[in-house]
Amino acid sequence: MSEHTVATVEELDDGDRKLIELEGREIALFRINGEFRAYTNWCLHQGGPACEGSVTGTSSAEFDRDELQTDLQWCKEGEVLNCPWHGWEYDIPTGECLSKEGTKLPSHPVEVKDGDVIVSL
Ligand code: FES
Repeated sequence: MSEHTVATVEELDDGDRKLIELEGREIALFRINGEFRAYTNWCLHQGGPACEGSVTGTSSAEFDRDELQTDLQWCKEGEVLNCPWHGWEYDIPTGECLSKEGTKLPSHPVEVKDGDVIVSL
């Protein structure tokens, strides 16, 4: 496993991202809720540049079987990545794909050391 210093902590405010190339791979570094996350810029749908998409929230639906009503709630504002090709959604803090249950963006370990942000591949 190789370590790469990709940014300083001060370089990214909460909600920011930085696209980088490491060993020929496109990687996106996110700062979200004070934590750093690194994902390969590759959508699970058809390989689009998922990490370059807009950041929004998403809708959550609950169905009440007794009342036969659906309750829609807007949630996760600022934590959902939308792939620019066809709109698949990803939860930035976890990498979980919200459009296909049980799948995640490929992630990479991130460590903060002496003010530097280090990604391991
Ligand atoms: S390639 Fe990302 S949604 Fe289709």
